[in-house]
Amino acid sequence: MAIAVPFPTTTPEGYARISNDPVFDPERHLALEEPAEILMLADLGYSDDEIATKATPVAASTPFRLLSDEGAEIMLDIARTLKVHAKPAGDRIENVVRGGCYQSQWLRDLCMSQEICDHLQKIYGIEVAPHAMPLHLGHMNFEPRDINTSIDKWHHDTLPLDFVMTVTDPAKVDGGRFEYFLGTKHEMAEMAARGETPPPERTVAPEFAGPGYAIALHGDMVVHRAGPLFSQCERISMVNGYVATDTARDEQSRSRDLIVVDDPEVLYTEWAKYAAWRAHGRLGTLLDELDFTSDHEAVAAELEHAILDVQRAIDEMRAQKQEISHYGG
Ligand SMILES: [Fe+2]
Repeated sequence: MAIAVPFPTTTPEGYARISNDPVFDPERHLALEEPAEILMLADLGYSDDEIATKATPVAASTPFRLLSDEGAEIMLDIARTLKVHAKPAGDRIENVVRGGCYQSQWLRDLCMSQEICDHLQKIYGIEVAPHAMPLHLGHMNFEPRDINTSIDKWHHDTLPLDFVMTVTDPAKVDGGRFEYFLGTKHEMAEMAARGETPPPERTVAPEFAGPGYAIALHGDMVVHRAGPLFSQCERISMVNGYVATDTARDEQSRSRDLIVVDDPEVLYTEWAKYAAWRAHGRLGTLLDELDFTSDHEAVAAELEHAILDVQRAIDEMRAQKQEISHYGG
């Protein structure tokens, strides 16, 4: 399997291993099925020029089965165990757990599973790898204490690609539906500036048939949310991040938003390695392909392009912007 950045061999401070951690067995714990349909970015209104530089022209799939019954039971058990670490993600989500893959080997093996990666590659139509930043693996959202607020407000993700999976049984959850907007993020930004949220006739709320069902999402390009609950109940979802292995594609990340979300002990090192991997790929291409030329501006621009993500990471780490972007609602 393609690996962007290998999972760290050391564990950061404060991430003790959980005790109820079974051994991940893809044969028993996965039950991968094909999605019925795939929605494209062009269907949302994105232009060919904008789509051309992105990871994939795919926007989202319909829900497909990912976990077996046994896998879904283990996932719920691990999510409940890790819930003690839940904390807010800025003012966007009240209860998230991140970094769980440092605490559960089962969760880590699920999130880095070759079988799931292969499955997603078929859906996305490109080569992908589990996200280079382990904080983006096995992210979990839990129900808020106040049912009048969305579980996760309208937003596009801080990463390029992910799957969003039901952990609790959707049939037992009153509200809390995952929804996405049938439009572009640019259109959404204009609506948000007018104080509007997507009208119901332009949103899709996919039907998840049970726990352990997922949709593949181009998270950076598809505006989505987890709506409010109608009554207080347990509601857990898991989001696992991926990147296109082709570093020539746009980065499609908003890592600066993680400054108010993630443990600084973990974030900056993971972020630096992600940026280094991106630049490493692009510098490799430059080494292989740069031709002789007297055009110093063109060569400087090539170099600048190769290290773009590193320079951005340096600037954003130093700027320490303390907010997480979303569109409200
Ligand atoms: Fe999201």
